[in-house]
Amino acid sequence: MKIEDTFKPYLTVKRSYKGGKSKQAVKANKKVYKLSSNENPLGTSPKVVAAIKAAIDDLHIYPDRTDNALCEALATDFNQELAPSQFLASNSGCDVIEMILRAFVNIGDEVIISNPCFVPYQSFSSRLGGVIVDVPLVGEDYTLDVAGIIAAITAKTKVIFLTSPNNPTGSYISKSELDTLLPEIPKNIIIIYDEVYRHFADADDYVTGVAYVKAGYNMVVVNSFSKSYGLAGMRVGYCYSSEKIISYIKQLSKPFIINKLSSAAAIAALEDRDFINEVVRTVHEERSYIYAELDRLDISYTPSQANFYLIEPPMAAAVFIDHMMSEGVMVRPADNFGAPGKVRISIGDHEANLAVIAALSSLPDCSSSIL
Ligand SMILES: Cc1ncc(COP(=O)(O)O)c(C=O)c1O
Repeated sequence: MKIEDTFKPYLTVKRSYKGGKSKQAVKANKKVYKLSSNENPLGTSPKVVAAIKAAIDDLHIYPDRTDNALCEALATDFNQELAPSQFLASNSGCDVIEMILRAFVNIGDEVIISNPCFVPYQSFSSRLGGVIVDVPLVGEDYTLDVAGIIAAITAKTKVIFLTSPNNPTGSYISKSELDTLLPEIPKNIIIIYDEVYRHFADADDYVTGVAYVKAGYNMVVVNSFSKSYGLAGMRVGYCYSSEKIISYIKQLSKPFIINKLSSAAAIAALEDRDFINEVVRTVHEERSYIYAELDRLDISYTPSQANFYLIEPPMAAAVFIDHMMSEGVMVRPADNFGAPGKVRISIGDHEANLAVIAALSSLPDCSSSIL
């Protein structure tokens, strides 16, 4: 007998999530633009930083035992369309996703995902003994295979992941696609609708999950403070759903789960709507600039509804990534996400995006320069 005999067989995860490298981990002798983790191009709101500083006293006292104050603020942010009791906050979007899966997935349950997608959907489900059923996105624009998902549902299906806008493709699920798919999903299945990039979407037929939760679908909608709110370092995320589903998942939460600083930061971030508007305006403006430059350089990309874009480099992805790094730009290979040969680049501020275009312009196949 050995200790490995007691290890759970499904905990030998084959495809685990490798986060982007930190700037410190990359030895560079020039300025590095970190565009590998979809962080906020404008940083963090100064009002939020002030709120964190104001909350720093009395750290020896436990924070609020519950997430109630944050849930009240979230209900206000959603214009009271949802009640505070329909929200559940925790330590990041990832944490919330894991909690939902822990609440529903038993060994052998099937979890439908659509690659390319956020890697933790697969690794977290597998850790619980879930069986992944992949219904890949289709075509150059990576659209959802609605008929394929309906056909893949079996008596064992427990969870269906839908992501809009999707990481790493930036593609989205239209209202009509959701309206076709959702009524076909049996009532014993949980739909995890991940909308952490929702603020950046501007397509006319883009929708959040609010109307579907209100219509009674078994949808748990995942959000994060890491992206548009610029709080990736504070680790706060939340979900909303029906009161019944939220109070069921909440049993897995822990007392004092959200620390004082993160709670103060998240509440202040919700109040600072001007900052979000400025972030969104910047991303939209920079997205248009980047598209125009990519067109000029004849580099193919997937139109994005998010704060990043997926490109097909005119050379092997690994060679391309090394070239970008040597030019001071950190980007992310998308093969681990299920998009082999493609590379994901976050939208930075204008200075960072100029550096991207300069680096792309100096590629062997893109000799024309903007500078
Ligand atoms: C689609 C998607 N969902 C959820 C998350 C989780 O974000 P966090 O754990 O930082 O809140 C990310 C982060 O990159 C993401 O891309």
